[in-house]
Amino acid sequence: MYAQMVKSTGAGVKSREEMSAEEAAFQDRIDADIKIEPKDWMPEGYRKTLIRQIGQHAHSEIVGQLPEGNWITRAPTLERKAILLAKVQDEAGHGLYLYAAAETLGVSRDELTEQLLDGRMKYSSIFNYPTLNWADIGAVGWLVDGAAIMNQVPLQRTSYGPYSRAMIRICKEESFHQRQGYDIMMKMAQGTEAQKKMAQDALNRLWYPSLMMFGPSDKDSVHSAQSMAWKIKMDSNDELRQKFVDQTVPQAEYLGLTVPDENLKWNEEKGGYDFSEPDWDEFFDVLQGNGPCNVDRMEKRNAAWDNGAWVREGLMAHAEKRAVLKTAAE
Ligand code: 3HC
Repeated sequence: MYAQMVKSTGAGVKSREEMSAEEAAFQDRIDADIKIEPKDWMPEGYRKTLIRQIGQHAHSEIVGQLPEGNWITRAPTLERKAILLAKVQDEAGHGLYLYAAAETLGVSRDELTEQLLDGRMKYSSIFNYPTLNWADIGAVGWLVDGAAIMNQVPLQRTSYGPYSRAMIRICKEESFHQRQGYDIMMKMAQGTEAQKKMAQDALNRLWYPSLMMFGPSDKDSVHSAQSMAWKIKMDSNDELRQKFVDQTVPQAEYLGLTVPDENLKWNEEKGGYDFSEPDWDEFFDVLQGNGPCNVDRMEKRNAAWDNGAWVREGLMAHAEKRAVLKTAAE
């Protein structure tokens, strides 16, 4: 598996005996649910893991605007257009909160952006799938934002203060996003036969990519053990995936749609559904840049960055001018 190729799966979590006095004191604070703030001492691995996770999350919000922004001009009514526009703007705001949280760890937004644009940093696999018709916009809100909330609600309790506070603000908006998506699905599923077919087709195509959003299965997750010990992650990938399936299947039933999984079955004993795993080869292939939209997404983000150079230069020139005037006045 790809994850195993790049890093060993050894959990690598230090035992109490292996920790230095500083590390043990740090772990005590984590265990006591005391938030870590930017000026507090932290292990280098903690700082790096946060930058990786928060940065990847921020990039996901920014790249995630593309599949939906693509539909703003084609939304079926003025109301739907206004709602979609607001949602896409929210995603930009989420990206900015998260970049700001990452900056408190000593990395600039520009550095993170450069790493996204030259392929050194990842963004969520889901945004490498296309949105082919209006029902896809409903399914994205319902499933993709639904999966995002399932992952992000626990992150409100994450151990790093700025990340936790950013997540509290983000989660409020994500739940609106999920509801607007479900509302589109309701209209489509209760519409004409053709509309219902579109809704089912969107569910068929986006179901497994949504399950992949939670990351590889626990046995292949290289970071989970350490991230959970540091409370950077609150639940494992498989735990969240299970919760998502349990929550979403009844919603699909209510819509009169069929989850595309022949093995889906309620398991009384575990109190949850048994379900088929996504195709993990496809997941790792998408991570390596071979999804249907990877190239297009990166071309669009690179073009946006290049086309915005004059704005950044103008702002910097303005800030420098003001600084000179301020110094002269003093
Ligand atoms: N897409 C892309 N890469 C993924 C991934 C996914 N769905 N799931 C895992 N990976 C990558 C990891 O980044 C890691 O690669 P790396 O070592 O090169 O960084 C590798 O696969 C191994 O996976 P792990 O399980 O060990 O990785 P993590 O412990 O980081 O867990 C995660 C992955 C659950 C996504 C975790 O990073 C996380 O909870 N992140 C915060 C939430 C987030 O990023 N959400 C993005 C969703 S989209 C969104 O929020 C936008 C909204 O508007 C819809």
